[in-house]
Amino acid sequence: MLMYNLIDKKRLKQALTQDEINWIVENFVNKQISNEEMSSFLMAVCLNGMNEEETYYMTKAMQKSGETVKFDYDTVDKHSTGGVSDSTTLLLAPIMANLGIKLAKMSGRGLGTTGGTIDKLEVFDGYKVDKSFDEFNNIIKEVGASIVSQSKDIAVADKLMYALRDKTATIASIPLIASSVMSKKLAMGSNIILLDVKYGKGAFMPTKHDAVKLAKTMVDIGKRDGKTVWAVISNMNIPLSDGVGCAQEVYSVISTMKGCDNNLLKVTKELAVNLYVMATGADRKTAELKVSETINNGIIDKFKEIIQAHGGSIDVIDKQELLLNTSNVITINASESGYIADIDALEIAKFVMQLKSKVGADRTKFQGVLLKVSYGDKILEGDALVTIYTDTKLTISDKNDIRNVFKITPKKPKKLKLIEKVVK
Ligand code: URA
Repeated sequence: MLMYNLIDKKRLKQALTQDEINWIVENFVNKQISNEEMSSFLMAVCLNGMNEEETYYMTKAMQKSGETVKFDYDTVDKHSTGGVSDSTTLLLAPIMANLGIKLAKMSGRGLGTTGGTIDKLEVFDGYKVDKSFDEFNNIIKEVGASIVSQSKDIAVADKLMYALRDKTATIASIPLIASSVMSKKLAMGSNIILLDVKYGKGAFMPTKHDAVKLAKTMVDIGKRDGKTVWAVISNMNIPLSDGVGCAQEVYSVISTMKGCDNNLLKVTKELAVNLYVMATGADRKTAELKVSETINNGIIDKFKEIIQAHGGSIDVIDKQELLLNTSNVITINASESGYIADIDALEIAKFVMQLKSKVGADRTKFQGVLLKVSYGDKILEGDALVTIYTDTKLTISDKNDIRNVFKITPKKPKKLKLIEKVVK
């Protein structure tokens, strides 16, 4: 086979065979295909797409480029396509563990403006994100859930391809995103996989239409592979909780575990209910009751167990204020009265990224904001909108930037629809 001919075939919008796709992925990993050739191929896929069979073959070729994890008991897995202040995994892990459903989760770091679970877990001093398979397995068996960083031995082709896509403007392709995500998920050995596909300003997929298309592609890959894969389509136009930034998001997760009701809890409940139905075959009503009962009984002790099992300190759970320890704490107030009609997730994420870029690596996790208002709230001029935690000084222009993230209108806005639907 010649890479030139296969690139040309895709340029001409023709479908590639399984053998051709396997050949491309294997030879790229073995460095027989250059970055120039692969970039050209990825751009052709970006522009001309792949059909369902090609996308599945691509996923399997990428999965086979690394190891596949095997457990001798049933586990479930969950994946979010990424959002702003999306800390559902931290809440979901103790809920599933207390429900007796084992969660085996490898997570990533932040991509672009979306936060990463692994970065948030490093807020707990000593939390070891790199675990051997035996350690991962033992924690899941003993505690019921483990969250570690993506092993470098899983879906090796994905790492190489992702790095190239990131440099060549070829991220935004549904077959490439779907095969990238699903190659890693299929390699994780869980037969039950729940995807949280987000749409909106703070998500990879700006529109509901594209989010549903991506979800259907990933669910189809799972079905072809004999797995149960469902996808919750959820709103990411506004941050999911009041914290944005690693320490502030963990602060918010802990407040939620201590009884604070918010959108983060609502979306996590939806994920837990779906996973419970998928894992046990129970009807939705029973699952809702079980999940609510588990949350009402308290999940914080299980969360502490999970953190400690990974070597993490639980000091910040008992003393949340330790998470808000920056040299400057600045509150921004509303310049008019009205209703909160928008809190732009993308703009707030960019603001926090800027705060992080101004400090040393050891301080980035502490830079962030805590929102003081939620979507739909009625506020008066002078009310606090947001508190900023930073080790640098803010300019007037910085303060205006953050104030502009909030849209205040005289009329109460429409109710926010958090969950669009579940694709099965
Ligand atoms: N997340 C992934 O894992 N892969 C993509 O291609 C995009 C988001």
